[in-house]
Amino acid sequence: MSVRIAPSILSADFADLGREVRAVDEAGADWIHLDVMDGHFVPNITFGPPVVAALRKHSQKLFDCHLMIEPCDAYLEAFAKAGCDLITVHAEATRHLDRSLQAIRGLGKKAGAALNPSTPLETIEYALDRLDLILIMTVNPGFGGQAFIPAMLEKVRRARRLIGDRPIEIEVDGGVTPETAGKLIEAGVTAMVAGSAVFKGGAAAYSGNIAALRG
Ligand code: DX5
Ligand code: ZN
Repeated sequence: MSVRIAPSILSADFADLGREVRAVDEAGADWIHLDVMDGHFVPNITFGPPVVAALRKHSQKLFDCHLMIEPCDAYLEAFAKAGCDLITVHAEATRHLDRSLQAIRGLGKKAGAALNPSTPLETIEYALDRLDLILIMTVNPGFGGQAFIPAMLEKVRRARRLIGDRPIEIEVDGGVTPETAGKLIEAGVTAMVAGSAVFKGGAAAYSGNIAALRG
């Protein structure tokens, strides 16, 4: 199975999101990555469930929802109903990670846990059996276009060892470019989010941009 590419629509044209989602879908995206920010957990604000619901008719691909909101539990059902297939919460944004993950699976969705760069991997060690995905942030969350943090390569390698043969995806998010992608694949990632590296050069460039990340 080759690595999954999940374009983040944070770098898309917000005035034309439906067309942008169709464009990356047709350009070979595996998943659509949705960055939800609240201006509280992260210093930026993006969009919520109504926007996700409106985008749902533009692609059948897996909607990979990255919640950067605190608290998160009260909003899980709304994002599930809006059409998210996989819902990732930040370990730092929920007081009871295990409960949040159970709630996501209880809604019939795949569950992910995200870790900020400085958060130890051990935070999720006892939640592995409730996880479908670990999202290792390779920048501090909040903005697109930031530089990849090299120390996160070792975190990916350690995550790979920690999960053993469990069917858990290891996803990275932030600063993924053709240059960093190769090292990340070697370290063991199974999915990579990319915003600026995909949404550059206009829609005609998207398929080449996605292919370049696969190496
Ligand atoms: C950052 C977001 C990312 C962001 C990645 O908080 O979670 O998904 O869009 O952007 P790039 O790929 O430009 O670093
Ligand atoms: Zn993200």
